[in-house]
Amino acid sequence: MDIPYARWYEAIGRRRSYRTFDKSRPIEPDKLASLESVCREFRPFADARVVMVNKPAEDIFKFIAGSYGVIRDAPAFLAFIGNSENPNIDEQSGYTAEGILLEATALGLNTCWVGASFSTKKTGSLIDLGDRERIIGVSPLGYAVKNGTITDKIMTGFGRTHKRLPAEQLVSGLIFEDAPAWIRNAIEAARLAPSAVNRQPWGFNIEENAVTVFIRSRGPDAGIPFRLDCGIAMLHIEVAALNAGIKGKWEFLKSPQVARFRVG
Ligand SMILES: Cc1cc2nc3c(=O)[nH]c(=O)nc-3n(C[C@H](O)[C@H](O)[C@H](O)COP(=O)(O)O)c2cc1C
Repeated sequence: MDIPYARWYEAIGRRRSYRTFDKSRPIEPDKLASLESVCREFRPFADARVVMVNKPAEDIFKFIAGSYGVIRDAPAFLAFIGNSENPNIDEQSGYTAEGILLEATALGLNTCWVGASFSTKKTGSLIDLGDRERIIGVSPLGYAVKNGTITDKIMTGFGRTHKRLPAEQLVSGLIFEDAPAWIRNAIEAARLAPSAVNRQPWGFNIEENAVTVFIRSRGPDAGIPFRLDCGIAMLHIEVAALNAGIKGKWEFLKSPQVARFRVG
């Protein structure tokens, strides 16, 4: 499936994480069907896939027996699955799953990337996993309660977790202001990518015809791979490039580099 770049580019600006959902508002069957078909069709990498589970997500977020997760009342969820033997599976999973979250956003649904505080065992019992597959992350799916609960407000640091570092701090190579317009748009889109605990571990080396994503900062760890966040930023870069009429290809690189997007 080709990236529906105009639709996803618009969704990049609107997506943000929501953790409390509206129990009384089910997802319409046509939206479920449409998102499920995008889950099947958006498979840019053979080893990374997303599965939609149309069942209440409550249990998978109660990861400590008897406790309540920070994610509440979602009527459905998405599971991000990858082949653990693929050395690039983190960035490939980040890229693929973010596509599905942008599609969900475009459909008017709300989501939240969750990489740690969920039960892999309970999630695994609700989906078919291949021998080499593992669950990389999950997201609740539904309509969020926008005013949020106090837990929500604390989790988002009263809005702070949506703040991003300035582009100048993330960029090396060409001077940001002198870079071609499509690159400046791509970096702005990458800045808006979600990352675990909003750590924004990415850096971007920019050339006239290429952007290399690398791991600029290794903190905080959070038990979630930095390359997963970087894969999410990669998708945002490509969506913004396509939206500016620029096609390119990714080449995966060894750490601390992640991948290079080259025009052509
Ligand atoms: C890979 C990844 C893992 C995440 N894991 C969790 C998590 O376990 N629990 C949680 O509440 N939020 C989690 N988040 C959501 C981030 O905290 C959130 O994306 C970040 O603070 C930026 O806020 P925004 O998504 O509203 O832009 C995760 C995000 C990413 C990208």
